[in-house]
Amino acid sequence: MNIGIIIAIIFTTIITPQGGGPRGSTNRTANNEQPPATTIPLAMLTRQEAELVNETIPALRQHGEHISTVFYKSMLRDHPQLNNYFNSVNMHTGRQPRALTALILAFASNIVNISELTEKLERVAQKHASLIILPEHYEIVGKYLLRAFSAVLGPAMTPEVNAAWTKAYWLMAKMLTGREQIIYKEFGPWSAWRTFIISAKTPETREGDIVSFNLKPVDGQPLPPFNPGLYVTIRLKIKGLKYFQLRQYSLSDAPNPESYRITVKRDIGASPDTQVDPRQYGGFEEGPPLSSAASSASDSSIGSIRPHRPGLVSNVLIDDFQVGDTLDLTHPAGEFFVDANDPNTNPLILISAGVGCAPLYPMLKVVAEQGVGRPVSWIQASRHDAPFREKVEKIAQANPNVRCKFFRSRLADGDVISLASRFQEDFIGLNWEDLWLTNNLAEYYVCGPEKFMSEIGNHLLKNRVEPARIKYELYSVGTFEMRR
Ligand SMILES: Cc1cc2nc3c(=O)[nH]c(=O)nc-3n(C[C@H](O)[C@H](O)[C@H](O)COP(=O)(O)OP(=O)(O)OC[C@H]3O[C@@H](n4cnc5c(N)ncnc54)[C@H](O)[C@@H]3O)c2cc1C
Ligand code: HEM
Repeated sequence: MNIGIIIAIIFTTIITPQGGGPRGSTNRTANNEQPPATTIPLAMLTRQEAELVNETIPALRQHGEHISTVFYKSMLRDHPQLNNYFNSVNMHTGRQPRALTALILAFASNIVNISELTEKLERVAQKHASLIILPEHYEIVGKYLLRAFSAVLGPAMTPEVNAAWTKAYWLMAKMLTGREQIIYKEFGPWSAWRTFIISAKTPETREGDIVSFNLKPVDGQPLPPFNPGLYVTIRLKIKGLKYFQLRQYSLSDAPNPESYRITVKRDIGASPDTQVDPRQYGGFEEGPPLSSAASSASDSSIGSIRPHRPGLVSNVLIDDFQVGDTLDLTHPAGEFFVDANDPNTNPLILISAGVGCAPLYPMLKVVAEQGVGRPVSWIQASRHDAPFREKVEKIAQANPNVRCKFFRSRLADGDVISLASRFQEDFIGLNWEDLWLTNNLAEYYVCGPEKFMSEIGNHLLKNRVEPARIKYELYSVGTFEMRR
């Protein structure tokens, strides 16, 4: 089959709504509506162009780190307003540039088999929509990315190669903007920042390191329902910092037209045993960690953030934000969710560590409230108190189909599971019924630190659970890849 046709088919797959939008919106867009104009014309790559692109991939992969750094540094220098979108930590650690470059290269090398990337593209489109990224931003990103490719390829970037890469970039950009336009349509009237007032602030642990915020829209209009598991983006202007700080937080309670809830864990910074050598990332100034989360005016300029300082937004939220204060939020988004309209009764296994329980709790609550008898297993690890424990136990008491298991594990500071963790033993010691390992339709949702998710994933895979039945939520950028 011709590449153009394949891409057109895949493109159709990609723009098929998968549900990040409001509950019930899936059918709305799938029927008679015309897709937005930006989704229609796609310049397909010819076989020769695909070959030109492919030939340069090894060199670009080899210099991926360099591309990422040069590309973002020059783009943010010339367009400083974009600092209002990018998470400065993910820039400094290189996670964000790496995620973008890796996806572009994966796209180019998979150009005849893009269906493999559908899930990744959906994650990116949902994240972009949650950040209100617009088509005009793609012009800027494309310009600086292609410039960085030229710098790395040197004379190998012939006019023909340049033209082929430009086409490949725009092919991908059109796929993303096409999907994003559809997501924005699903968002309906709430398509920009909406102001919420904090109506309650509740510590979820005795240590006070995990705190829930109930948020009511200031406009008083009803909130849309959402599929449990989705997140919102919040933006804060922190005193002393020049740009907005944007972060995602999972909605931690079932949909309610009056208010949403988010649950925030205080990020105390990496613990000594999990610290990363700052030289790995390059470009950091030496100096003591910031004593307070918002104490440096230069914090948001490239090269000035010190590694291992406490998290900016989580600390400010927990310490400084009180009932009556306001926060700006975007519409719920994401691709990690249970379809609230799906009458499916396959066992649902919800496995979390730490604040990873936030997106899972609304799943439990919604499924239990549906009363369709869907079996649910709740498995939760925590270092100290398990957030929501009482609520979960109450649901389990009222629903014979719900069972729960809590482990107090020695998760290390910084939310990285320690090698000596008891959780693995506890988990392996769970009986087969708790994990529904003999049911080949059971669905698994896992959220916690990356190492925790790897351990869980490996255990499930070893017990013949197919990868497609396991969903992970990564509290960072980039996709979570199973490491065995
Ligand atoms: C989809 C999604 C859902 C999420 N849901 C939740 C949720 O429900 N609850 C929740 O609590 N969190 C959630 N998160 C995480 C949340 O968005 C924030 O990342 C988290 O609160 C930390 O943000 P912060 O501003 O406090 O920390 P940041 O300032 O972003 O710092 C994060 C970490 O990076 C370290 N660091 C800082 N500078 C460097 C450097 N130069 N090099 C290396 N390390 C550095 C810091 O020490 C800190 O440990 C979610 C994230 C995603 C993507
Ligand atoms: C073809 C072009 C693009 C590709 C391939 C791409 C790819 C990505 C990827 C892979 C992520 C990480 C998603 C995640 O794991 O959550 C991401 C996040 C993001 N993208 Fe894009 N992107 C593109 C265009 C843009 C544009 C035009 C902008 C706007 C300036 C933008 C802004 C962002 C921001 C702000 C984030 C979140 C970063 C963070 O939270 O640290 N991207 N993108």
